[in-house]
Amino acid sequence: MRIAMIGTGYVGLVSGACFSDFGHDVVCVDKDARKIELLHQNVMPIYEPGLAELVASNVKAGRLSFTTDLAEGVKGADAVFIAVGTPSRRGDGHADLSYVFAAAEEIVAAVDGPTVIVTKSTVPVGTGDEVERIVARIAPDKGITVVSNPEFLREGAAISDFKRPDRVVVG
Ligand SMILES: NC(=O)c1ccc[n+]([C@@H]2O[C@H](COP(=O)([O-])OP(=O)(O)OC[C@H]3O[C@@H](n4cnc5c(N)ncnc54)[C@H](O)[C@@H]3O)[C@@H](O)[C@H]2O)c1
Repeated sequence: MRIAMIGTGYVGLVSGACFSDFGHDVVCVDKDARKIELLHQNVMPIYEPGLAELVASNVKAGRLSFTTDLAEGVKGADAVFIAVGTPSRRGDGHADLSYVFAAAEEIVAAVDGPTVIVTKSTVPVGTGDEVERIVARIAPDKGITVVSNPEFLREGAAISDFKRPDRVVVG
């Protein structure tokens, strides 16, 4: 499968590296040019045991790459994962979904054919409906499906949590 990971933070980088290690072709996209530049030099922006080796071997095998160019990254993707941050909003503590919706808008505008948009970020119930409304508004005829697959990895044990999860939730 060809996978695009939008947001190359803790979840996006670990998930992207693990998916590529399973044999998929993965492009990890991030708006942070410095982060992408470091990853091109195999410098990890986070500390996670085993991650640098996992990234290096899959980059070498040609299954894992990094870019700041979302439109290029999602080209031909079978699945596009949203793994951007959802920080707690100051005041009421609710998740700030603005990054998720902004990423969804960019993805929907950029994909060039049928694809599945997968929300991996931690989001409240109803977010998938909102992403579907974005699809209906921007590109109802591209054949886009919206799916939820929340991530439960723990920092420090992220690779084994991702590769051998004790649960997988898909909706
Ligand atoms: N870190 C964890 O342990 C963990 C575990 C499970 C779930 N989660 C959830 O996963 C989500 C991501 O968390 P994280 O810790 O990886 O966040 P993070 O802040 O480490 O990474 C998010 C990345 O998304 C990038 N980004 C934002 N908007 C973008 C866009 N439009 N296009 C491309 N890149 C964009 C940012 O530059 C950043 O690098 C959150 O919802 C979080 O709650 C985190």
